[in-house]
Amino acid sequence: MTKLLINVDHVATLRNARRERFPDPVAAAHACLAGGAEGIVFHLREDRRHITDEDVRRFKAELDTKLDFELSLAEEIVTICCDIQPQLATLVPEKREEVTTEGGLDVRANMERLGQVIPRLYDHGIAQVALFVDPVPDQIKASADSGANSIELHTGDYANAPTDEHRQDILNRLASAAELAHELGLTVHAGHGLDESNYPAFGRAIPHLSEVSIGFAVVSRALFTGMEQSVSDMRSIIEQHPYGS
Ligand code: PXP
Repeated sequence: MTKLLINVDHVATLRNARRERFPDPVAAAHACLAGGAEGIVFHLREDRRHITDEDVRRFKAELDTKLDFELSLAEEIVTICCDIQPQLATLVPEKREEVTTEGGLDVRANMERLGQVIPRLYDHGIAQVALFVDPVPDQIKASADSGANSIELHTGDYANAPTDEHRQDILNRLASAAELAHELGLTVHAGHGLDESNYPAFGRAIPHLSEVSIGFAVVSRALFTGMEQSVSDMRSIIEQHPYGS
């Protein structure tokens, strides 16, 4: 069964909007786990717009679950990730002016830097290193060449597809990319823009989907249902729509 990991970045966005100490992302993470999340995701951005260094230290100290640390290739953040030693490090592209991560990493273009960073992450006891990539065969092959043992497929274009035809086309590309990644020995994750309405078709179409990382939709819905319920509802949707169903 595909695992659900919850990204709590936007709990910190809300807290920081008022420069307050609440809502607390660590307390939110506990509620996510109570609702059935199988791990917690956070992105320590270079500009610290939501998650802070202190949040990251507290996730490590106070949570007994899988942590997925999303990070850019910036030296400062790589060093913090090595120090924290999450179970999973997901490398993502990062631009200061973007509202959210806008696309996958160009693995080929960053191969030299990845060749420095990935072995360091493993050397610090981080068992899983994933690259956040678009469903493009050459990027999947480059991910395998880079030494990463996992990929996270970028689902943002699927979530934002302007027409049904476009959405189906992207779904086909995501399914082929997942198949290729699996053949190359990579574990397949996915995320960005997934929600309760677009997940069913996605879950049914994508093979070898080990885990999904969902943040904005679940955190937003939690304003109305509470976090535990929001996570539990998303988890039910995932369970009800496995591959091939
Ligand atoms: N995966 C990655 C690599 C991301 O950057 C994000 C957004 O922070 C997500 C998953 C989760 O996306 P969303 O918040 O749209 O569910």
